[in-house]
Amino acid sequence: EKQMLSFDGRVAVVTGSGRGLGASHAKFLASRGAAVVINDLGGSAQGTGASATPAEEVVAEIVAAGGRAVANFDSVTENPEAIVQTAIDAFGRLDILVNNAGINQARPFGPDVLPSIRQHMEVHFFGTAGVTAAAWPHLVQSGSGRIVNTTSPTLIGFPQQTPYVSAKGAIFAFTRTLALEGAEVGIKVNAIAPTAATRMSDEADISEEFKQFMRDNLPTSLVSPVVAYLAHQDCAINGEVLQAQGGEVQRLVLGFNTGFTSTDLTPELIQQHLAEILDPATHVPFEQVDKQDLGAVGK
Ligand code: NAI
Repeated sequence: EKQMLSFDGRVAVVTGSGRGLGASHAKFLASRGAAVVINDLGGSAQGTGASATPAEEVVAEIVAAGGRAVANFDSVTENPEAIVQTAIDAFGRLDILVNNAGINQARPFGPDVLPSIRQHMEVHFFGTAGVTAAAWPHLVQSGSGRIVNTTSPTLIGFPQQTPYVSAKGAIFAFTRTLALEGAEVGIKVNAIAPTAATRMSDEADISEEFKQFMRDNLPTSLVSPVVAYLAHQDCAINGEVLQAQGGEVQRLVLGFNTGFTSTDLTPELIQQHLAEILDPATHVPFEQVDKQDLGAVGK
């Protein structure tokens, strides 16, 4: 039996941890010894309003259980430096950043959709990129910095969700490519694609049956162990995205298939060889593709 993965002496920031998945991650890390900054703006699931109550309640719960936590109420989009500074002021260092804060609005695509796309990009993508940038020098200094981002299984496509899914796609790409720079300075950058019953899922535009299924079967507590593994100094993977729901943990892969090749390529050849080009049986994960074929992308 391996020794329990402890977070004694480690300091974590979990954004959006006043509720839902973030609160669960923060409590789990604190229960294993981490000192945690509970950051939460405290607004609605759609991204309006603000309140100190959610973050304060999670801090009180952690402290009552004998853990260490402080609250921060800044928006990840507006004041990322202050969120990181809260960790430095309270605990003197930063080892772990869990980018979790998020909003969700269902919006059919059309001329009116752009403000919602911008808002989702602001909170999810610029929030993630901004807090990560502020944290980076401290994570380098940690010597084993860990970043856990939050993307979504909706990456495969979800109706009426171009704002949300586009922002989650940006986080996916950010994770994959920042991992390359992290590797040079001892930082591991991974992501989760969770599904769990929360306020956000309760208010989402999905069937009441699936909401009930989530409440019965997909608790946030079955996602947080995955976050904790990726946040631990012994984490052995980098640039990966793990889908997590109801106890299942799966690798979400960016890949290519064998496809079709011709140096006399024509639109007609594409038409004739579509079955090969789309063949799921020849899929290989990204890192098994001959990198020389990818030029700069695979370097
Ligand atoms: P939630 O709505 O219960 O919690 C999100 C928290 O983020 C809230 O407490 C909110 O106040 C906070 N927040 C929002 N904007 C913020 C900002 N600008 N600055 C600081 N805090 C902010 O939602 P849930 O479900 O716990 O979501 C957590 C993350 O997981 C999100 O990134 C979400 O997109 C993602 N996710 C959730 C899924 C689910 O099934 N619940 C599925 C896939 C992804």
